[in-house]
Amino acid sequence: MHKLAGKKILLGITGGIAAYKSALLCRELKRLGADVRVIMTVAATHFITPLTLQALSGHTVHCDLFEAESDHGMGHIELARWADLVIIAPASANTIAKLAHGQADDLLTTTVLACDKPLSLAPAMNSLMWQHLATQANIQLLISRGVTVLGPAEGEQACGEQGPGRMLEAEQIAEHLQQQLNQELLAGKKVVVTAGPTWEAIDPVRGLTNHSSGKMGYELASALRDAGASITLISGPTALSPPAGVDYINITSAKEMTDAVMANVPSCDIFIGVAAVADYRPVSPAQQKIKKDADSLSIELVRNPDILAMVAALDDAPFTVGFAAETEKVVENAQKKLTAKGIHMIAANPVSGKNSAFNADSNELTLIDRDGISHLSRCSKPLLAQKLTKEIAQRYYETYPAKDS
Ligand code: PMT
Repeated sequence: MHKLAGKKILLGITGGIAAYKSALLCRELKRLGADVRVIMTVAATHFITPLTLQALSGHTVHCDLFEAESDHGMGHIELARWADLVIIAPASANTIAKLAHGQADDLLTTTVLACDKPLSLAPAMNSLMWQHLATQANIQLLISRGVTVLGPAEGEQACGEQGPGRMLEAEQIAEHLQQQLNQELLAGKKVVVTAGPTWEAIDPVRGLTNHSSGKMGYELASALRDAGASITLISGPTALSPPAGVDYINITSAKEMTDAVMANVPSCDIFIGVAAVADYRPVSPAQQKIKKDADSLSIELVRNPDILAMVAALDDAPFTVGFAAETEKVVENAQKKLTAKGIHMIAANPVSGKNSAFNADSNELTLIDRDGISHLSRCSKPLLAQKLTKEIAQRYYETYPAKDS
């Protein structure tokens, strides 16, 4: 199966003579098994008709931000949510400028602004327009924000000039998109991920737990799966559906999570503890619901096993990654955990105030390993999970160079 098979690709087409090549790109992406939806700017419709793209994509083509029917339930927010990745080809100087400055005055720029999926641009324009300082500054700004720029190629242009500005060919763009999906990175590797909270029973109806929603761990499991790894996701109680294509083990308490991890970790290459595991549990949970007869109540707690430390201490330990949830001194405290647990790497995030990672849709991470500190800036958890996957893979192969085959 091709790597683009089943991927949802949003193809944006802007005004330029290269728009005719977008029809070939749409056909190529479909041929490779992707589901393609198309947004055209008004300028693009002067070069190629929406009907052509509708026939090739098999879907209504979206052109108007204010369509009365909201495009059969696919308005800009729905399109942004639907896509796995976005490619704008051709990307005109005008649209590049608008994207660089956050302007959203048509369906395409509004959708992109509302979308946190990987964005690629295939610029096409007159070579002097491409080389203009304004265009180059806009391109650099977009690259610094993580946008991938494909091309342009050099050669003879429709306007008669020679130089950079030709849109890449459909096959080249499809090849880049496939690489971007990153699926080879962890091919053949087995990764165990924990996620969510644990629940430590006080009695049959009450327990100790925390605010973890599981979002970060589930997104990381999805990103690792997309990078080609086989995933075992061991999760505490959450409201989320398990990601498709992962082995899923549902547990409740830290003790159950420990047992599930220790049963699955011996054959794995990488272990990642995203779960917010309760550090303590009641020594003797009551068999029946505790009555509120007394004015005060003491519950004796005992330490839970430290799962990360246990995994890291195994004779044939996998590459071991922890998370650190901190309300203060984020880096200092995470560094202490890295050392105390004997793990390879830790990803620290704040869990207090308005930037708390708990149950949020976005997050930021400070990555600490024995070589130093780096930062992944705030973005959506799906995008952050993709970035973290690359960071983990890079350190894994540096640690075990023999496994990079
Ligand atoms: O689930 P979300 O709502 O998306 O929120 C994400 C998150 C905040 C839960 C996540 O990003 C995060 O920080 N996870 C780690 C939470 C945590 O328990 O941190 P800690 O600093 O208490 O523990 C450090 C590490 O030791 C963690 O990797 C934890 O899984 C591990 N641990 C802790 C206790 C224990 N008994 N065994 C462990 O293995």
